[in-house]
Amino acid sequence: MDISRVLVVDAENLICYSLAKMLKRIGCAVAISNTGADANLKLESFNPDLVILDASLPDIDGLQLLGQLKAVNSKLSIIFLSSNFHSDLAFQAFSLGVEDYIGKPFNMDMVEQSVQKVFVRKNLEADIAVVQPQLRKKNLPDKLVGNCPSMVEIFKTMNTCAQQDCKTILILGESGTGKELIAHGIHDLSARKDAPMVEVNCASIPDNLLENELFGHEKGAYTDAGSREVGVFEQAEGGTVFLDEIGDMPLNMQAKVLKIIENRKFRRLGGSREIEADIRIIAATNQDLSKMVEEKTFRGDLFYRLNMMTITIKPLRERKKCIPSMVEYFVERLNDEYGRAVVGVSSEAMRVLMAYDWPGNVRELRNAVERAMMLEQGRILSVDHFCQETRSSNLKTGGCVFGCAVPVAATIALPPEGISIEAVEKEYIKQALARYDGNQTKAAKCLGLTLDTLRYRRKKFGLESYPAQKAQNISTPITDSVDVQVPAKESSAS
Ligand SMILES: Nc1ncnc2c1ncn2[C@@H]1O[C@H](COP(=O)(O)OP(=O)(O)OP(=O)(O)O)[C@@H](O)[C@H]1O
Ligand SMILES: [Mg+2]
Repeated sequence: MDISRVLVVDAENLICYSLAKMLKRIGCAVAISNTGADANLKLESFNPDLVILDASLPDIDGLQLLGQLKAVNSKLSIIFLSSNFHSDLAFQAFSLGVEDYIGKPFNMDMVEQSVQKVFVRKNLEADIAVVQPQLRKKNLPDKLVGNCPSMVEIFKTMNTCAQQDCKTILILGESGTGKELIAHGIHDLSARKDAPMVEVNCASIPDNLLENELFGHEKGAYTDAGSREVGVFEQAEGGTVFLDEIGDMPLNMQAKVLKIIENRKFRRLGGSREIEADIRIIAATNQDLSKMVEEKTFRGDLFYRLNMMTITIKPLRERKKCIPSMVEYFVERLNDEYGRAVVGVSSEAMRVLMAYDWPGNVRELRNAVERAMMLEQGRILSVDHFCQETRSSNLKTGGCVFGCAVPVAATIALPPEGISIEAVEKEYIKQALARYDGNQTKAAKCLGLTLDTLRYRRKKFGLESYPAQKAQNISTPITDSVDVQVPAKESSAS
């Protein structure tokens, strides 16, 4: 699509004339308005694709007119001109969706370049609209980012572990802090990067299958073992085994894992031969292993073995300095994924993001940015699109300390008109599922429900495919939901 119709709105005729000359030279049809009232009329009669708008007009403030024009046609491209350049005005103009902001006096080449850029982008958008249905979400893994001192320390430790080929590493941190990313980062940084990294989630594999999964079996080892199968420790030969959620590993398996950590040898189920294992073992958990050792639900000897090289990631609320760089990264990453051109969040929104306590940590921050990008069609994510975080920051209910749950009474006040308990229950279940990306074990734990009860209620409320259905329902006004928040409930080792 070519932009051919440009409306120039400026009180000074000389400026209008020079701009019109340049625009006609590059093939545009041009109309001129010296006032806001006339610009509004020409918006209908001339139907421009682009407006070059001056900030000071005799009858209306330029920003106000900008809002009016955008309200009539949100797709209208606007280049904003102003003789008093100041960052506040520029910020407000960008918040209202202008494409560019040019200070006066301007160089005509600058305006021409800016117009051409709008041209290129509009054409690109038209192309994207044609191919969009064929585009698929890229879904690349995230890169580990963060420039707060504690993340910088973590990057250093990861490097040391990788370079010195540490064979056993423990990663501790609350859910959503990036343990999995760190584990993958260590593997990718190390000389083992070309060998496999094999991941086992100890919480999601039934106890009776875990041993087989890890060690494999010989033919005939048990009734259904029709052929020999290699387990994770063999599949990862030369590389890395990632034992995620190790706190959920049953005690009898812990003893077997301790053996392989100590001897670097193991046997397949039903096998008599010892097999050497050249592997690095990285274990991770969001549980407080030392407390579990005291409570005798985790083996002390395994804990001490694992704990020799430990990376502890602080919850996001204790390293808020990381938030701006993370937001910048997620915006950039999601721009790529969705073909968007968002430039960032407004300063008011950033204040809210910095005030919120992020019980779901970086995962929740990423989801919040993604949700805001779905809701906002412009280039700056405004505070309106971070409703949940705004509510929480205002109420300051999320201010819990590590491992200490917010009392339920502090988060829910019974409204005078009463409330539907079912709706509250459904909302909490939705929030917990969203927080843990649909992981039922974690959502159930966070709500104090058994897995079966959660499954039953999920079905009852028609939430079987939630949060996968979230993306399609994203335009549902947030105010439709009951105003409740799942408080942070996890406890973890620090
Ligand atoms: N430092 C970071 N930089 C970029 N993305 C991050 C960072 N930390 C976490 N994330 C993102 O947050 C989400 C959760 O990260 P990850 O799965 O590694 O967390 P986790 O600690 O393993 O959580 P859980 O205990 O629930 O398994 C992912 O989308 C991940 O890409
Ligand atoms: Mg994980």
